[in-house]
Amino acid sequence: MTDREAPLLEARGVSHYYGARLGCRDVSFSLWPGEVLAIVGESGSGKTTLLNCLAASLPPTAGTVAYRMRDGVSRDLASLSKAERRFLMRTDWGFVHQNPADGLRMTVSAGANVGERLMAIGERHYGDIRQSAIGWLERVEVPADRVDDDPRGFSGGMRQRLQIARNLVTAPRLVFMDEPTGGLDVSVQARLLDLIRALVADLGMAAIVVTHDLAVARLLSHRMMVMKGGVVVEEGLTDRVLDDPQAPYTQLLVSSILQV
Ligand SMILES: Nc1ncnc2c1ncn2[C@@H]1O[C@H](COP(=O)(O)OP(=O)(O)OP(=O)(O)O)[C@@H](O)[C@H]1O
Ligand SMILES: [Mg+2]
Repeated sequence: MTDREAPLLEARGVSHYYGARLGCRDVSFSLWPGEVLAIVGESGSGKTTLLNCLAASLPPTAGTVAYRMRDGVSRDLASLSKAERRFLMRTDWGFVHQNPADGLRMTVSAGANVGERLMAIGERHYGDIRQSAIGWLERVEVPADRVDDDPRGFSGGMRQRLQIARNLVTAPRLVFMDEPTGGLDVSVQARLLDLIRALVADLGMAAIVVTHDLAVARLLSHRMMVMKGGVVVEEGLTDRVLDDPQAPYTQLLVSSILQV
């Protein structure tokens, strides 16, 4: 089977409870290489819980998440050793947090934030690492002369672009994003979304993007899932779901956006 013909990630009946409280319940889907999936829904609908289960940072209470490794073999994430999971996170995966401070090292330079991901995959040549880091800063529109500054002095938008560079420098096959444009001004958001869209398309990565903003889903994703109260109420191609929503809840979401 070629790379394109097998799913990259498969969730089957994924549920997570925080004690008695429902986080998400019985979520199943397949993600294909190069595909961008948006998970949308109101606050508390279970988006982050699901994303964390998919990215192996939260163990599902029930169900399984299988990921196809580079050797073509699908592995249940729960069966991976801690070292294997860490290796995935450093190489095959990226995770862009809503708050850039959660995904950056705030006290080391911008260049080191990007370069240390390269070192983690075995790059050893200082000059090459620095050159790649500078190249990536330029790609995400952080001025190259800021390479030795640490991100504490950066604006929110610049920090988020740096976090994206740090995550994408290793050419991951799959990137998880939780509200990547969350706390930013609208004008900064628009540029960042364009940038994310271009990078994801250029690199042919798959991505799972959590957002409460339907416009973000429309711009970035091929397919979307709508969550409410911890369950998926609708799923389909993004244009279909937004133009012809079937579930009453999705209809409500779409129409309330149009009124804004
Ligand atoms: N650490 C936790 N302990 C207990 N309950 C939690 C925890 N994290 C989330 N929950 C609960 O799980 C449910 C889903 O929350 P989750 O954070 O996944 O939603 P969300 O869709 O990401 O919301 P938001 O848009 O506000 O980020 C909510 O009822 C929430 O209160
Ligand atoms: Mg959340």
